[in-house]
Amino acid sequence: MAISPASSSIKFLFYCLSIVVLVGLVNASRFDELFQPSWAQDHFSYEGEQLNLKLDNFSGAGFASKSMYMFGKTTLQIKLIEGDSAGTVTAFYMSSNGPNHNEFDFEFLGNTTGEPYLVQTNIYVNGVGNREQRLNLWFDPSKDFHSYSILWNQRQVVFLVDETPIRVFTNKENQGVAFPKDQAMGVYSSIWNADDWATQGGRVKTDWTHAPFVASYKGFEIDACECAVSVAADQNVRRCSASDKGYWWDQPVMSELNQHQSHQLMWVRANHLVYDYCTDSSRFPVLPRECDHR
Ligand SMILES: *[C@@H]1O[C@H](CO)[C@@H](O)[C@H](O)[C@H]1NC(C)=O
Ligand SMILES: *[C@@H]1O[C@H](CO)[C@@H](O)[C@H](O)[C@H]1NC(C)=O
Repeated sequence: MAISPASSSIKFLFYCLSIVVLVGLVNASRFDELFQPSWAQDHFSYEGEQLNLKLDNFSGAGFASKSMYMFGKTTLQIKLIEGDSAGTVTAFYMSSNGPNHNEFDFEFLGNTTGEPYLVQTNIYVNGVGNREQRLNLWFDPSKDFHSYSILWNQRQVVFLVDETPIRVFTNKENQGVAFPKDQAMGVYSSIWNADDWATQGGRVKTDWTHAPFVASYKGFEIDACECAVSVAADQNVRRCSASDKGYWWDQPVMSELNQHQSHQLMWVRANHLVYDYCTDSSRFPVLPRECDHR
């Protein structure tokens, strides 16, 4: 069949366009595959594989995983707001639904230009939180992307920054401490104004003349046991907790930090810890049971 020059060049143009579109899709697909905007979609923008969330004096923005998960590891690469980020909070967290929910939080508390971000972590079990820890980082998290991960199995919940553990919540059910292991969790991130408390105890307010405040994301990874909503919750729990599935996060070596990681955690705590609820005896005259390290 003869193809006229005009139609073949149109086909070629179409071919080129479709490659551009496909490459665009491949780069952006990790976000789209796993997540969707949950509010303020007009505060989202995409640059290739990178997603930007914007906070201005109209709105923040947030996204959520399309699915729920039990156990496994979730990682986001985040570049936090550059320059003046005082009053803002960028959060990355996992949460179950319902009144007795479980939640694992990373909250990045902004600061004035040149002053350090604080990373607050918290853990809710059966609806009860009040387990804040705060630390500063060994790098400027607004200059480049860094990876932030939550590892969750039946023995521990580990918060990691560039694969360095910054916090471990160990399963101490044998000491009567509740541990999150029977509720599927979604993965979330959001950026919002919290200038009533976030920066220097709420003394520094958001300077809206510096808006928009932009946090960037890429490298969306969820390696976890997916819990289909169409499947009954207890069936999901059974399947994701089964010891015969060979999930890598259930391997014996994953039940606690290895020696290298323990040393890393000790280094982080010695050099970067700013606040630990476990040592706050004015707030907790009787320290929570999980704080007992004996
Ligand atoms: C902001 O900077 C001040 C001064 O360096 C510091 O005390 C504070 O912990 C930093 N972070 C936040 C979130 O306030
Ligand atoms: C904040 O938003 C209002 C509109 O709601 C706008 O008029 C004002 O200029 C904004 N302020 C700043 C500092 O951007």
